[in-house]
Amino acid sequence: MKRLLLPSLLLAFVLPAVAGEDMRQLAQLPAPAQQSLREEMLDNLLALHEITTLVGAGKYAEAGNVAESRLGWSARGVHAAKPPEARPGLHMPPAMHALGMEGHKAASEFAAAAKSGDRDKTLAALPKLFNGCVSCHAAYRTR
Ligand code: HEC
Repeated sequence: MKRLLLPSLLLAFVLPAVAGEDMRQLAQLPAPAQQSLREEMLDNLLALHEITTLVGAGKYAEAGNVAESRLGWSARGVHAAKPPEARPGLHMPPAMHALGMEGHKAASEFAAAAKSGDRDKTLAALPKLFNGCVSCHAAYRTR
């Protein structure tokens, strides 16, 4: 049984990846929502850069504040004032939206650790900043 399992796993997952096939689920968002999402994403990347730069400089509490306001639970709803067709969350499959919310929560957990000012706690929590990015990008695409 085990002998069969490995080759079939290879066929199902590894070969398509090697062949460049995208196995992620397509989430079809209206063009304005896709545009809003991309703007938010670029800001997410800038925020990660700022936060890791602050951590590298030993400014843990400052890093925590940026993480909370730009990526954490406080950063939900940035598109709330836009018309429905420009609000990405409204058009995501529920499981994709849930990954986004989990990501905000994880970033807030990092923020709480960093705000303590403790170096070891901050470094140990650093991967949480990336949880949402990695889990959503691995599972979904919009084009
Ligand atoms: C809920 C899902 C989700 C989460 C969470 C998420 N992303 Fe994305 N991201 C996407 C999707 C979908 C796209 C593709 C958007 C498109 O081009 O239509 C994208 C695109 C991007 C892009 C490319 C933007 C461009 O120039 O077009 C960057 C950079 C990015 N994400 C960074 C991040 C970072 C950093 C995080 C975490 C802090 C993150 N994302 C979290 C779904 C997500």
